[in-house]
Amino acid sequence: MAIYFNPETKFFYLEGKNISYVFGINRTGFPEHYYFGTRIGRDDLTYTYEANIGDSGEAAIPGKVHAGGLSYNVYRSEVSFYGNGEFRECSLQLLQKNGSRLNEFLYETHEILAEKPALAGMPSMRGGETLKLTLKDKFSEMRVHLFYTVYDDASVIARHMEIESCTDEDVKILRAYSFTLDVVGSDHDLLTIENAWAREGKPERTPLPHGIVCVDEKSASSTRRHSPAMALISKNTTEDFGPALGVNLIYSASYALKAEVGTKGYTRLTGGINDFDFTWELSAGETFATPEVVLAYSNEGIGGMSREYHDAYRKYLINERFANIPHPLVINSWEAVYFGCTPERLLPIIDAVRGTGIDTFVLDDGWFGARRNDKAGLGDWTVSPEVFPDGLTPVIDYVHDAGMKFGIWFEPEMVNPDSDLYRAHPDWAISVPGTEPCVSRRQLVLDITREDVRDYIVEAVSKILRENEIDYVKWDFNRAITENFSRALPAGKQQEFHHRYALGLYDLCERLVNGFPHIFFEGCAGGGGRFDPAILYYFPQIWASDDTDAYMRTQIQYGTSLFYPLSAISCHTSICPNHQTERTTPFSTRANIAHLGATGYELDTTKITPEELDEIKLQVAEYREMEDLVLHGDLYRMENTFDSNYFAVTVVSKDKAKAKVTAMRALCRPNDEHKRIFPRGLDVNAVYEVVNKEYELCLRLSGASIMNVGLVLPLKTAGGKMPGDFKTFVFDIKKVY
Ligand code: DGJ
Repeated sequence: MAIYFNPETKFFYLEGKNISYVFGINRTGFPEHYYFGTRIGRDDLTYTYEANIGDSGEAAIPGKVHAGGLSYNVYRSEVSFYGNGEFRECSLQLLQKNGSRLNEFLYETHEILAEKPALAGMPSMRGGETLKLTLKDKFSEMRVHLFYTVYDDASVIARHMEIESCTDEDVKILRAYSFTLDVVGSDHDLLTIENAWAREGKPERTPLPHGIVCVDEKSASSTRRHSPAMALISKNTTEDFGPALGVNLIYSASYALKAEVGTKGYTRLTGGINDFDFTWELSAGETFATPEVVLAYSNEGIGGMSREYHDAYRKYLINERFANIPHPLVINSWEAVYFGCTPERLLPIIDAVRGTGIDTFVLDDGWFGARRNDKAGLGDWTVSPEVFPDGLTPVIDYVHDAGMKFGIWFEPEMVNPDSDLYRAHPDWAISVPGTEPCVSRRQLVLDITREDVRDYIVEAVSKILRENEIDYVKWDFNRAITENFSRALPAGKQQEFHHRYALGLYDLCERLVNGFPHIFFEGCAGGGGRFDPAILYYFPQIWASDDTDAYMRTQIQYGTSLFYPLSAISCHTSICPNHQTERTTPFSTRANIAHLGATGYELDTTKITPEELDEIKLQVAEYREMEDLVLHGDLYRMENTFDSNYFAVTVVSKDKAKAKVTAMRALCRPNDEHKRIFPRGLDVNAVYEVVNKEYELCLRLSGASIMNVGLVLPLKTAGGKMPGDFKTFVFDIKKVY
């Protein structure tokens, strides 16, 4: 049992693999937070209560509360509401009929649920044991339900809040964040992830000042500027040591995550749906659910926190049908031919990779309607007779004949103004009547808050999927949303748009992903513009970036792996000079870095040398050998090219019998340092064979030696030459006994 309630002390103990989460109902009837961290006993923690502080809320709240006096402002809160003395960031604000924003939600009842209830219309973690805590407003019949899900075998807690109107009056939700968590200490660092097109995934570590630090998105796509993720870490936390508390929101639209250092020695974490440009009309009898947030804790540093997320997501979030099976190893047409995807150009590319072990051909953008460039055709999901006069079947047959599966690209949420769809339904594109909509990449966004628009998309995409033997879909989304207006919503509901967009997206995903259960879906958003756990719930992998440059990829994949498992990070080997950076890196480096994820190729295979084609065959075979590590292994990040000239990671099997170390020296320098890297995660007592095929190196070393003495990166190539820039070194490690 993961959840325990002590009826005498009214303490709740939520226990995960290595964690405890403790809160109690205080004398005011308010759920007060006591602890989240390493597993502890079921102790009475009321001794941590600062009863002597001048403005102790406990004594004061039943009486009159006034600014500067006695208030909720000192509670360590599980939920926080504005209006009665709480001056920190609150998680809830309701506008009532008489204009009041005053609520006080106090404990009413609770249930411990063996079956986790699904979140209406939104993706969430599966399984676990769930506590549903019901709070009632002191001044009305409004209820708030706080949900906590805990897992015996994961060090994460999933939380969300539901607001139920049991009154006969409508209320307007002004803010509904998913959680509040007050953490001990006011001297933490905050780790966040900065994203920009082609350079996603940059970790940023900032000392928190008093006041509020916020990461947010206002574009209804989750990761165009920041990830919906942050970690509160101690000053002395490193990659391998120290506490790290992670926050990751299962949400794909506008969000805000905040850390607020208060004056009483606590740091408040809160966030959820961005309340900027958000209100929600809650009618009598209705319930509003917030998205789920996943909190993780590790005292094994940032790396430990990442591994907790990776395990939890692989087991309880990612589509079960695909989480544990080998992912397609693709050849994608985009960087090979861009919009020029004619059979004449595609068939030789397919021919070239016959027998290499690449198992899926993906036809990217350009196969439909008038889509010969980015100016036209989006929304018209019919095979272009101009490009494929006999339909897709001959190409699909060709792909099958080559022993591969067939994948195809869609951008279901978009429309080009120059399209049949737009000509027939201009009002389906998001715009404010009487204004010119903002065009980006020559396209507009369809208003998927509308059911009729969603029905069209589902039918148009399904028709292609039904009529063709398709095994894989890449779901793209190439621009941010502007205007944020639906012609189908009344004026008073326009600020519901962002969240309704997210709900519309999830409805589309439910219908298409479940409608075609055999199809493997990959998410994409102009690179990594929508890389979040909600997308991962539907699509087991997401294209991490349009930047396929191997050096940039060491950074992008490093940052993305802070929260997401390698199996979710889609990575391709492409041609050089690289199309995004003009940089040239060795072919082996591109493959070795792309192998640290769901891998594939994206290049014109008719333009590479026969030797490179042979290399692809070897690379694919090598990937197959490490694939189980990518799917299930533990990731240890050792070096990153943000901080140094090196990149290095170890991926270890759960039983520690097998590992792979991938390292890169970015710039080659003459007379360079003798660089050691220190693998992690091995069994100190086991003896391993360490093999570097390229250098014909085969060592027999204890796990303790490998990790403490380290491995040496050669200064020369196997042939004794200077290795040049961006040389990778791969060590295969297998337990002997
Ligand atoms: C952006 C994606 O990230 C690319 O991989 C490619 O699919 C293009 N869109 C196609 O338009």
